[in-house]
Amino acid sequence: MIRKILTWPDPELKKKSAPVTVINEKTREIVRDMAETMYDAPGVGLAAPQVGIHQRIIVIDVSGKDEMPDLIVAINPVIIHSEGEAFEEEGCLSVPRYAANVRRHAKVVVKALNLEGEETAYKAEGLLAIAFQHEIDHLDGILFVDHLSNLKREMFQKKYRRMLEEGRETA
Ligand code: NI
Repeated sequence: MIRKILTWPDPELKKKSAPVTVINEKTREIVRDMAETMYDAPGVGLAAPQVGIHQRIIVIDVSGKDEMPDLIVAINPVIIHSEGEAFEEEGCLSVPRYAANVRRHAKVVVKALNLEGEETAYKAEGLLAIAFQHEIDHLDGILFVDHLSNLKREMFQKKYRRMLEEGRETA
């Protein structure tokens, strides 16, 4: 089932998500819906709080294909190592029609559980490393625009609110 993606400035996006304690049929249903919602959008990643579920679950697929084989499901993901610097343009399904460069680590190692409850480690670089950092941020209520400088963030808020108002007027 495709779920509704919450968008900025929805306060639900600012809440911290809780660790998953049991992986059961309900978890599998959430993951299926998240993957379906991400591929439909389309996007390269989605975190559970973006669909209003405050559990530490993310899905990522940076392959550019809308098929399951490359889907990464990370439950309770934690960055256990990071190195280097990246400064790449990011967007977010919760902040449609906006993109900005964000400072991140270039490489990360992420430890997480998969849907079978097995601990898995991902050594990521490039787009995948950025996607992991971006999606894990969502679990702590942080959006990529929160990483912008104060000035840039104020500009974003002004511009975006105006855009939302204009969208309402024409709707
Ligand atoms: Ni996002």
